[in-house]
Amino acid sequence: MLNLKLSLPNSQALPAFVVVMGDDFVLPRTGSPEDPIRVAVMISGGGSGLAALLRYQEIPRTHQTTLVIADKEDSGGLQHGIHAGVPSLGIPLPMKVEAKERRIAHERLVHAALEEHDIELVVLSGYMRILTPWFVRQWKGRLVNIHPSLLPDFPGAHAHRDVLAAGVGVTGCTVHMVDEGVDTGPILAQTQVDVREDDDETSLQERVKHIEHVLYPETLDRICSGQISL
Ligand code: GRF
Repeated sequence: MLNLKLSLPNSQALPAFVVVMGDDFVLPRTGSPEDPIRVAVMISGGGSGLAALLRYQEIPRTHQTTLVIADKEDSGGLQHGIHAGVPSLGIPLPMKVEAKERRIAHERLVHAALEEHDIELVVLSGYMRILTPWFVRQWKGRLVNIHPSLLPDFPGAHAHRDVLAAGVGVTGCTVHMVDEGVDTGPILAQTQVDVREDDDETSLQERVKHIEHVLYPETLDRICSGQISL
C-alpha cells in the first residue's frame, strides 16, 4: 500500500488530495452543513481534542459530533460532550465476561452503541485502547485517529518521551485512517512542531496538542466534504 504523505508546516496550505488505500477502505458519504456526517468521538482521558472539535462544530460543518464514547465511566472528557448536549457514554470493559473474551465483548458493546446512534464516522481522539482487526474491519475507511508524532516515526503510546529520547529537532502530529496495525494506516495530514532544547514531555505535549486541535477538525472537513478520495 502506498501512502501519499504530506508533511507541511501549515495545514492551511494542504491541497485536495488522493490517498492511495486498499479497496477494503470505504469512505463515508459526502456531508453538508444541512446534512452533516454523524461523528462519534472516542476518548480515554481529558478530551481536550474533543472539546476543540465541539467548539469547531458550533457553526454548521460537514460533520457533527452526535455521540461521545469513553472507555471509562469516569473519563473527565465525557463532561465536554455532556455540556454540549451530546449523548456521552462511558463503556468500560465488561468485567463479568471471562478475561479472554473481554476485549472483543467490549468492542461489540461499542459497535452496538455506534450502530444505535447511526454513526457514519468514528474519530479516535486520545482513545488509548488498541482496536482488534474485527472492529477495524467494521469501520475501515470510516475510522480515523490522531497521533502525536510525525508517523511513521515514533508510533505507540509514548511518542513525546520517545521523541525527546531520540533528540530529534522536529516532531508534530498525524491524522491517519486506522488499519489493523498500530499507528500504521494511510496518512491523511501532518503538521510539524519544533522541539525546543528546554522541552520536557509536558511542554512538548501541550504544544503538539495545540496544533492537533487545528489539524484534526480541518482534516475531518476534508474527509466529510469529499476532498479525500481513494
Ligand atoms: C492527544 O495528544 C492525542 O494525539 C493522543 O492522546 C492525546 C489526547 O489528549 N492520542 P486529550 O485527551 O484530547 O486532551
